[in-house]
Amino acid sequence: MWNMALSEVDFRAVETQRKAWAQERLRVAFVPTMGSLHEGHRSLIREAKSLCDRVIVSIFVNPTQFAEGEDLADYPRDAEGDLTKAASAGADLVWFAQHEVIYPPDWGTTLVPQRVGLGLETDHRPHFFTGVATVVARLLCLVRPEVAFFGEKDYQQLLVVRQLNRDLHLGVDVRAGKLIRADDGLALSSRNAYLSAAQRARALAVPEALRSICAAYAAGERSVDHLEDLGAAELKRAGLSVDYCAVVSSEDLSAPGSRVDDAPKRWRALVAARCEGLRLLDNCSLDDPPWR
Ligand code: PAF
Repeated sequence: MWNMALSEVDFRAVETQRKAWAQERLRVAFVPTMGSLHEGHRSLIREAKSLCDRVIVSIFVNPTQFAEGEDLADYPRDAEGDLTKAASAGADLVWFAQHEVIYPPDWGTTLVPQRVGLGLETDHRPHFFTGVATVVARLLCLVRPEVAFFGEKDYQQLLVVRQLNRDLHLGVDVRAGKLIRADDGLALSSRNAYLSAAQRARALAVPEALRSICAAYAAGERSVDHLEDLGAAELKRAGLSVDYCAVVSSEDLSAPGSRVDDAPKRWRALVAARCEGLRLLDNCSLDDPPWR
């Protein structure tokens, strides 16, 4: 019977535990996070637990994915709450990773993702996927899970992780967790805590824009310009500034040309918009939309 108390473990404890589980032939899942856990993270942990014997959750606010002037210092942190939320969702071990373990003083490697790592987010946050890919590769090599979970909320990130897992031959089974929405439709994100009630009301234009694109697609609209303009107009009407509102291939984020043809490609709408400095990210499949 597994009865180790969840605690703030250091890496030596993670390593010891990982080895013990390997000897017992237990299948280990990993859910890397930056903490401030919400229902989106908890659903990843629950899914991980339903698939594997043990679940490790890491909490590390990775400085290399923040640019100068972004919210690294203010990023929401809630260690105590995270422990409770991770434990009640089924985590067996919560690792509060220390900076020196992730980036030792003699660390000298940086990954710069190409292909799915180019465009969209990279056009607006050029440092971001370099930081994400570097830390995720490091975390996967340290933890060596059989399965790792990443949310579809950060869809481009998910594809970047799949690509690095393939390219570096890490052999991890990378699984996508469903994007979870609040009752009002806003995609869950730790950064939603920054929104005032008035800002939140305007932020709802993001899921609304996606809903409009899905409705138009379902009604037969296939012009890419029309679908993208429809979403962007909705965002602008709410006073949001649009980083991108793009219809792309779900598989590799390639742009479709002037029309979204039907099979064999599957399509996705991706949105990034700013509400007074706060960046909101959302996306949905056009072929299997969350709204009917
Ligand atoms: O999505 C996140 O929370 C982060 O980008 C990740 C994958 C934990 C890497 O720091």
